[in-house]
Amino acid sequence: MSNNKLEELRQLKSSVKLGGGEESIKKQHGRGKMTARERIEYLLDEGSFIEIDTFVEHRCTNFGMEKKKVPGEGVVTGYGTVDGRLIYVFAQDFTVIGGSLGEMHAAKIVKVQEMAMKVGAPLIGINDSGGARIQEGVDALSGYGDIFYNNTIASGVIPQISVIMGPCAGGAVYSPALTDFIFMVDNTSKMFITGPQVIKTVTGEEVSAEELGGAMTHNRTSGVAHFIYNSEEETLDSIKLLLSYLPSNNLEDAPVFDTEDAINRMDEKLNEIVPDNPNKPYDMKEIISTLADDGEFLEVQPYYAQNILTGFMRLNGRSVGVIANQPKVLAGCLDINASDKSARFIRTCDSFNIPLLTLVDVPGFLPGTGQEYGGIIRHGAKMLYAYSEATVPKVTVILRKAYGGAYIAMCSRHLKADVVLAWPTAEVAVMGPEGAANIIFRKEIKASDDALQTRSEKIKEYRDTVANPYIAASRGYVDDVIEPQLTRPRIISAFDMLSSKREERPAKKHGNLPL
Ligand code: HXC
Repeated sequence: MSNNKLEELRQLKSSVKLGGGEESIKKQHGRGKMTARERIEYLLDEGSFIEIDTFVEHRCTNFGMEKKKVPGEGVVTGYGTVDGRLIYVFAQDFTVIGGSLGEMHAAKIVKVQEMAMKVGAPLIGINDSGGARIQEGVDALSGYGDIFYNNTIASGVIPQISVIMGPCAGGAVYSPALTDFIFMVDNTSKMFITGPQVIKTVTGEEVSAEELGGAMTHNRTSGVAHFIYNSEEETLDSIKLLLSYLPSNNLEDAPVFDTEDAINRMDEKLNEIVPDNPNKPYDMKEIISTLADDGEFLEVQPYYAQNILTGFMRLNGRSVGVIANQPKVLAGCLDINASDKSARFIRTCDSFNIPLLTLVDVPGFLPGTGQEYGGIIRHGAKMLYAYSEATVPKVTVILRKAYGGAYIAMCSRHLKADVVLAWPTAEVAVMGPEGAANIIFRKEIKASDDALQTRSEKIKEYRDTVANPYIAASRGYVDDVIEPQLTRPRIISAFDMLSSKREERPAKKHGNLPL
């Protein structure tokens, strides 16, 4: 082959690799942002990235586009490894025509989506784009449609992770929204359907882009995003950590890690952690980290619906999804947001063969017109549905309160938990002793000379008679009442025993999850 041919190839590749050129790259860096290629290099194992479709070009001739060079079509795509495991990736290149998405830009993304599905590898999409390429009109819209369709088809087949590292506006937000996890970077990521200008024109409302669709807005308020970090590096590091808890596809199990943490490790602290006063809160996170291998817990959606905790830990090296009431926030009540958050997490774990550990201390569903009008009935139903539908191993530990419908909803035996353990402090009842006494002993309390004294006696009577774990255990709804310090060895043993669990369900097209 002549040197000219090789030189031509090298030049073509290096000009595409320069993206929008040095000026645009400088601008990108000036905003504290890496370029698309730098992000991919940071994320993947060194030297593992294989780029595909470097030479793809648009074919738009509107508004002088035929003369416009769009290197790489504004998106870098390909595959490589993270910690030695295959992943597919695309990164929109904001330095090239604002990372805007045209027909061929979309075609590149569609190709990696389809390849990732074919080989069963996670797909990571790094979003940094002005949205639909305005010059291309319906061809750009059609590209988005193809991506959304593939996001849906890939859902539950391969893990799909979206990273927002710049603007992601208009209908473009629906690709990340259809994926399993959304990561955002504080101050630089923005997601919204309609921007501040449009909102001002239509409703007169004034709001900054950050307030409207910044990273904290979506992590704390809307619940659209799952993770927030201060820098792009921290964000990409955390993606690697998340991947370590996930299998590469729905036909595999998550990787198993060696651990020095003993299976039989007991912690006496657990015997003391639940306060004697049932109305006194404690921090459920402390319990989770005491149970987990090496105390490590990757919390998912830590800022949203903090009355329930969701996240990943390992037990004897195996990945486990944890759902736990947080007594420190709203006394651990279930509400609309907690139901949505946990139902989604349960389904994510079930899709990817990750067993579920549920830690229960729940006084009930949150009362109030706000909750009722907001549809707590249909939102709460999602949780019941998700737990009932899940066929992965399900282990539940009742620590303290397990009242009423919320007792059932928190992966009770009735929703087919495989193993249910309770601490001696557990109270399984229709409602809390205070509320129960007010109803069933109303007449006695009213007739008493000392109503306060009678009420407190009746509360005690109710608690002593009903609010304990032994009645549920006598029916077999609780398999065993255990010393709290034995929880780690007992749940490890339960998951070990369940590792070969197989559960068949009647054939159907799909269920009708309440939405
Ligand atoms: C074509 C675009 C573009 C777009 C940006 N650019 N967005 N070109 N289509 N959607 C180009 C700019 O013209 C500019 O080109 C370069 O990208 C960089 O943009 P700047 O405006 O200079 O950057 P910045 O000041 O950082 O502003 C970024 C921005 C702004 C906030 C994203 O560009 C913007 O508002 N763009 C339009 C956003 C938008 O309305 N998109 C459509 C959303 S609706 P030059 O050549 O000057 O460097 C949508 C529907 C999807 O996406 C529907 C799916 C179903």
